[in-house]
Amino acid sequence: MSPLIAPSILAADFANIQKEVEILNSSEADYIHVDIMDGVFVPNISFGIPVTEAIHKHAKKPLDVHLMIVNPDNYLEAFRNAGAEVISVHYEACPHLHRTVQAIHSLGAKAGVAINPHTPVELLSDVIQDIDLVCMMSVNPGFGGQKFIENTYSKVSRLKDLILAKGAVTKIEIDGGVNLINAPKLMTAGADILVAGSFVFSSDDPIQTIHQLKRIEMV
Ligand code: DX5
Ligand code: ZN
Repeated sequence: MSPLIAPSILAADFANIQKEVEILNSSEADYIHVDIMDGVFVPNISFGIPVTEAIHKHAKKPLDVHLMIVNPDNYLEAFRNAGAEVISVHYEACPHLHRTVQAIHSLGAKAGVAINPHTPVELLSDVIQDIDLVCMMSVNPGFGGQKFIENTYSKVSRLKDLILAKGAVTKIEIDGGVNLINAPKLMTAGADILVAGSFVFSSDDPIQTIHQLKRIEMV
């Protein structure tokens, strides 16, 4: 099965956001991954609601919004109104995660839970059936262009086992440092969705790079 591809707009040229979104529109990308950083949960600030609206205005692909922010509950409705189809919140930022997931669903969006590299997948055991995807961080969140953390493969396998054991249909998304070398191994371990930022936008031909990611085979 080919992976779903979610290029991260964080790595795009923000001065030409319309052009960059149109490149993704004409590619085989399945989603546009939108990274929101608040300078509190992560040590970087990206952009917020108006820029998400601007991306949505030109996008022909669904927006997969990754909230790297504290108190995400306060902003769910605003991001949904800005065009988010999928809203992922961080496990580490949500003391009442089940309630937050319910709130995302009540807005008509798909609910994702992102986990940092040190967070064990087993902590999702009692919420896995209620969520649409797990966004597994394969770098420490906050910056694009970082090196992929190798421990991710075993986390993906363990998460896949957990999903199957619970009879859930939750998708596994991998976020950070994804490229053509690690993508086949990630798929074999059980990944469904691959986020790719710098690998796509730093390449000479982003459309062709997305095509290559889409065509990867399991190893
Ligand atoms: C990291 C972000 C990622 C990032 C991926 O904090 O959540 O989505 O943009 O970028 P690359 O593919 O360059 O690691
Ligand atoms: Zn992300």
